[in-house]
Amino acid sequence: MMGAKKVSLIRDDFPALAQKVNGRRVTYLDSAASAQKPQAVIDMMNQVMTEHYANVHRGVYLFSAKTSAAFEDARTKIAKFIEARSAKEIIFTRNATEAINLVAASWGRKFLKAGDEIILTELEHHANIVPWWFLKEQMGVVIKVVPILKNGALDMEAFDRLVTGKTKLIAFTQMSNALGTLTPVGHIIKKAKSVGAKTLIDGSQGIVHLYANVTALDCDFYVFTGHKLYGPSGIGVLYGREELLNEMPPYQGGGEMIEKVSFDEITFKEAPYRFEAGTPAIVEAIGLGAAVDYLLGRLDYPYFIKHELALLNEAEKRISAIPGVKIWSQAPERAAILSFTIDNVHPHDVATVFDQMGVCVRAGHHCAQPLMKALGITATVRASFGCYSTLDDIARLEEGVQKVKKLFK
Ligand code: ALA
Repeated sequence: MMGAKKVSLIRDDFPALAQKVNGRRVTYLDSAASAQKPQAVIDMMNQVMTEHYANVHRGVYLFSAKTSAAFEDARTKIAKFIEARSAKEIIFTRNATEAINLVAASWGRKFLKAGDEIILTELEHHANIVPWWFLKEQMGVVIKVVPILKNGALDMEAFDRLVTGKTKLIAFTQMSNALGTLTPVGHIIKKAKSVGAKTLIDGSQGIVHLYANVTALDCDFYVFTGHKLYGPSGIGVLYGREELLNEMPPYQGGGEMIEKVSFDEITFKEAPYRFEAGTPAIVEAIGLGAAVDYLLGRLDYPYFIKHELALLNEAEKRISAIPGVKIWSQAPERAAILSFTIDNVHPHDVATVFDQMGVCVRAGHHCAQPLMKALGITATVRASFGCYSTLDDIARLEEGVQKVKKLFK
């Protein structure tokens, strides 16, 4: 296991991790649902609201100028963080879900027609299924699904067979939120390009544990949410290639996305503004910029990627050694998520026992019902790690599983 000191310094940055639940230090193993926030993010959001809060792009006075500059600065930081070519490729949305809905409603409705095929995978979160289902219902596009193998990896032979000249979009996760499976992004994008299909990557989990270079990936769209990346909730990002974004019609109409409005004619701004109708999530966007600053300035990425992987391996070794426990996340390439069940105990009961010990996990279908169906189950217990997770958290998880086994004997 890697330097405990380095992790303990990082833990000190996250005030919520010092809290006690039922008399014991909280063991937060639900970072895949939402990560804890470093003090730097909390301070930045506080500072905007206490020192110069105002609406953005609308005022000529100092507060508005300062807040507008901080808001656009956050966009630039995020563009650099994911290595986009320009900040114009970064659209602020409410979350990853809204970003996918934006692409489906705007790009999908303009560029797809009945009979065109969209390829999804069995690993997808509902957020990367339902918006495409709307297009199937409304326009007659065809949805094809890449199945998983028994170990939770994608069946890439089936994938290769599904991609044809009719494929217009492949929308897939970089990392499964339910199993932690990492997908072969490079292979998928290359195959998409071979038939002229567009690609959308759901990076909600992947960006946290693998990070992303959208220019090197050469994807058309990449979406993620702020709150899993140690930033605030209510803010997400759609990355899109600039020329593609400017070919797409607006998603919502309102203030600040137009050039001119009359009752006879309306013209729209270029991206990103044409997709940001109304007052945006100002403080949250600036908070996400602070999270990115924190990640780049304070975290040693290669170290923490290894740290999270070492924790995952240790957790799997310890939990799988307990009789009656089945681990569902077994793909050869995966990160930061351990999904398991305990014989004859419902995952919600497991999570309730854990809660009494101050251990936070998610139990259920994880908004991935098709994946649960493919696995032949309805729910799992999911322990998920972040940069601040420790061996002690794994010991508490193990203690929790032993306690459940005793209680339900
Ligand atoms: N999508 C989040 C999760 O996986 C909420 O738990």
